[in-house]
Amino acid sequence: MRGEYLSLLVLIVLASSEVLAKNNSSTPKLRRSDFPEDFVFGSATSAYQIEGAAHEDGRRPSIWDTFSEKYPERINDGSNGSVADDSYHLYKEDVALLHQIGFNAYRFSISWSRILPRGNLKGGINQAGIDYYNNLINELLSKGIKPFVTIFHWDTPQSLEDAYGGFLGAKVVNDFRDYADICFKNFGDRVKHWMTLNEPLAVVQQGYVAGGLAPGRCSKFTNPNCTGGDGATEPYIVGHNLILAHGAAVKVYREKYKASQKGQVGIALNAGWYLPYTESAEDRLAVARVMAFTIDYFLEPLVTGKYPVDMVNNVKGGRLPTFTAKQSKMLKGSYDFIGINYYSSAYAKDVPCSNENVTLFSDPCASVTGEREGVPIGPKAASDWILIYPKGIRDLLLYAKYKFKDPVMYITENGRDEFNTGKIFLNDGDRIDYYARHLEMVRDAIS
Ligand SMILES: *[C@@H]1O[C@H](CO)[C@@H](O)[C@H](O)[C@H]1NC(C)=O
Ligand SMILES: *[C@@H]1O[C@H](CO)[C@@H](O)[C@H](O)[C@H]1NC(C)=O
Ligand SMILES: *[C@@H]1O[C@H](CO)[C@@H](O)[C@H](O)[C@H]1NC(C)=O
Ligand SMILES: *[C@@H]1O[C@H](CO)[C@@H](O)[C@H](O)[C@H]1NC(C)=O
Ligand SMILES: *[C@@H]1O[C@H](CO)[C@@H](O)[C@H](O)[C@H]1NC(C)=O
Repeated sequence: MRGEYLSLLVLIVLASSEVLAKNNSSTPKLRRSDFPEDFVFGSATSAYQIEGAAHEDGRRPSIWDTFSEKYPERINDGSNGSVADDSYHLYKEDVALLHQIGFNAYRFSISWSRILPRGNLKGGINQAGIDYYNNLINELLSKGIKPFVTIFHWDTPQSLEDAYGGFLGAKVVNDFRDYADICFKNFGDRVKHWMTLNEPLAVVQQGYVAGGLAPGRCSKFTNPNCTGGDGATEPYIVGHNLILAHGAAVKVYREKYKASQKGQVGIALNAGWYLPYTESAEDRLAVARVMAFTIDYFLEPLVTGKYPVDMVNNVKGGRLPTFTAKQSKMLKGSYDFIGINYYSSAYAKDVPCSNENVTLFSDPCASVTGEREGVPIGPKAASDWILIYPKGIRDLLLYAKYKFKDPVMYITENGRDEFNTGKIFLNDGDRIDYYARHLEMVRDAIS
């Protein structure tokens, strides 16, 4: 992490040089000038969460359309993204709001099935999709806002899911590479910051072990409602294909576009920070294993071309795929920056390894818990997995810096949610306080 490159993409109401949260005595006071001049403030979204127009202008379904429309009981409020925030139609208004707030950057994702409705080149390119993102990018640039673009934010085209199981199938690597190529070719003259994938860890954990996110797969003993799955094997296959897809996209960029477009390609990785439940050596090792199975899982292959040793040791029975020498070489160094999505922290405790009901969650032989002796690690946001622990962002940044060759880093997500009461929140004290405390810790990490 180098100060001059460390930038921040968060949803924060921090304009020019004004002091945050003026009249709250406990909220840290921060100024724009507390951060390096080229430290970027921005906001982030994903296509399925905001675009709507899910069945318009040639877009075909992704696994998220299928999941939310076919299984509304698996979405808390039964809603779906067919309209969402209607940003497909209201993008000019949205960009005007970003500008009004004073953001310098906007991170958004491209909907794969809006560009390639059937997921691959054979199924044709949707010109209306290309036009939409061209218009959005041009609108941002006209307001001086830098686009940070995620190529894959979880929305695998349903056609590829049907054809070969989406990211369970090795064929996805070439189809993703072709899709990324089209993005670079059409938008790379103006987009200089790319993220191949958003949160591959969330995809494997929630899509294939817990089943809470599309495509909603898990072992029967985890949840009988899942649409099939095996939490012992599938997450590792999917993780492997995600890593190879990332590598293939970076390779295309470097071979065909880097010299002329001169952009940067990275990845956005989510991770919590973990503290030992007790000070015992066993719990400290449990923390190391949990880190291996979370942030290191996707960072280590990009830095060294290999899986973390704790994963190799703990994933027994040939369930962890291996990289060929050629793949390893392609992966090693396949990033210009690392994006970090941080929300929350937890404790890790050593537990005996289990041979029954094995999944990616049991393989680290550690139990992860938000509380110690009934005391939560921090106050809870609306989502019960968000326990507010600002120091975690500082420790995570420093961990990545020292363990993984001092990469250029961006905070690509950070924030908290609030209960939806149907009212518009203008009195946003809790959120202001959350950002101020996390920004203070980021400033601390820089210094
Ligand atoms: C400051 O206090 C006023 C009046 O109590 C309140 O309306 C406002 O929301 C507060 N602002 C912040 C940033 O806390
Ligand atoms: C998706 O949500 C919309 C409301 O936004 C609703 O009208 C529609 O029925 C839902 N679609 C399906 C297939 O459930
Ligand atoms: C494995 O899962 C089954 C089904 O949920 C359950 O009955 C059994 O107790 C579990 N075994 C262990 C060791 O957790
Ligand atoms: C499975 O689905 C049913 C019906 O929607 C629901 O009542 C039940 O809680 C679900 N089970 C789990 C473990 O989520
Ligand atoms: C002040 O900060 C506390 C958290 O320490 C937060 O709960 C509260 O909403 C904030 N109040 C205002 C007015 O910003």
